[in-house]
Amino acid sequence: MADVLTDRLPLFPFRSPDDDPFTPVTAADRRRLDGPVTRVRLPTGGWTWLVTRHADVKQMLRSDAFSADMTRPGFPLLRTPPPATPQNRRGGFIRMDGEEHLRLRRMLTAEFMIKNVRRIEPHIGDVVDGALDALVAAGPPADLVATFALPVPSLVICHLLGVPYSDHAFFQQRSAIMLDQSADPLAVRDAATSLRAYLGGLIETKRTSGNPGDDLLGRLVSDRVRTGELEIGELIGMALLLLIAGHETTANMIGLSVLLLLQRPAVWQRLRDGGDAEADTLVEELLRYLTIVRTGLPRQAIRDVQIGGRLIRAGEPATALLSLANRDDDVFDDADGFDPYRQAHQHLAFGFGVHQCIGQPLARAELRIALTRLARRLPGLSLAADPAQLPKRDMSIVYGLAELPVTW
Ligand code: HEM
Repeated sequence: MADVLTDRLPLFPFRSPDDDPFTPVTAADRRRLDGPVTRVRLPTGGWTWLVTRHADVKQMLRSDAFSADMTRPGFPLLRTPPPATPQNRRGGFIRMDGEEHLRLRRMLTAEFMIKNVRRIEPHIGDVVDGALDALVAAGPPADLVATFALPVPSLVICHLLGVPYSDHAFFQQRSAIMLDQSADPLAVRDAATSLRAYLGGLIETKRTSGNPGDDLLGRLVSDRVRTGELEIGELIGMALLLLIAGHETTANMIGLSVLLLLQRPAVWQRLRDGGDAEADTLVEELLRYLTIVRTGLPRQAIRDVQIGGRLIRAGEPATALLSLANRDDDVFDDADGFDPYRQAHQHLAFGFGVHQCIGQPLARAELRIALTRLARRLPGLSLAADPAQLPKRDMSIVYGLAELPVTW
């Protein structure tokens, strides 16, 4: 699809400034956009419509005129896809449409309902306390990303799925490759293949044992696989999706949130002394302000559709840029400012429409519990590095800090 005109378009994804992780799109990049729905160039050679206003992003993501199926020719890809293997995509319902998507998503809805997440909150609390003990034992100073932000969501998702945490280094390393936009397609394929083989072995053990276990994978084996509703290959793909979607996202939110809070002592104190309701409000504003899925949500129009006054034709690619939609002054007062008192619940950090994040009640609970307990256990926490020099994961689909040295 590349042509001379495409070459002149701004290159997407935009990069946050090296020294400022809180600016998802710089003023210079914003100025280069020719309107709220405009074309940008992709690193894979094509282009995509970039949809940036809150109302337009909602309209796009709830419209059935768009497909999320990345195997369609012309789908807006950020990297060359790995060579297809027959098992590659099975069960990965985040990139499926219609009934195929709904059938698999529905099997998980109950697992992530607020009342069920409430039930595992005591476990999340124990995991957070254990990670705090490890942090205290490691420092001061210590790297908050490695000792706290990554292990907490990783332990929680492993517990929920019934995956042994002792294998976390194996899947953390591979899921980072799968999220890396700059990774070699063959490395991505190998990472997916080895994760599938690992999860396949685990599921097979559950399937052949008399008692598959009272965890998410065990329940799906008993209730869906044994009844013939779900194939093993599909379950492996669902487990892979949850494992990847469930840890780096929340981990990156924890790391960036702590960096922001340590630079705002009054908000840090409010978190320490306030109740759950205040922490919940703060978490919503952190989700809005940080919007870690900065590469946007890719789709392809399957029929002609008007978005924000632009005609997007059948077959054309489009990307919903959540980070700018969450900074839309029509919806949020002083949208580029961070306001811990703001009622930010209209934010789109979890997406919108049929693919809206299924894990959001879990992510919210993890963030509230992790951040409040950290503030209470280590009220004197401070940065042990120049905030402008911190290494970032800026080639990942999910933006975050690679390290956060802290002291207390
Ligand atoms: C703060 C943390 C998180 C953020 C910011 C986040 C963000 C998102 C976004 C933006 C989407 C929409 C993708 C699209 O429409 O193409 C999504 C979907 C999804 N998320 Fe999350 N997520 C987070 C945590 C989690 C957790 C903890 C889990 C699971 C344990 C999870 C599981 C999923 C799944 C399975 C989908 C696909 C839903 C579907 O296609 O129906 N996420 N997430």
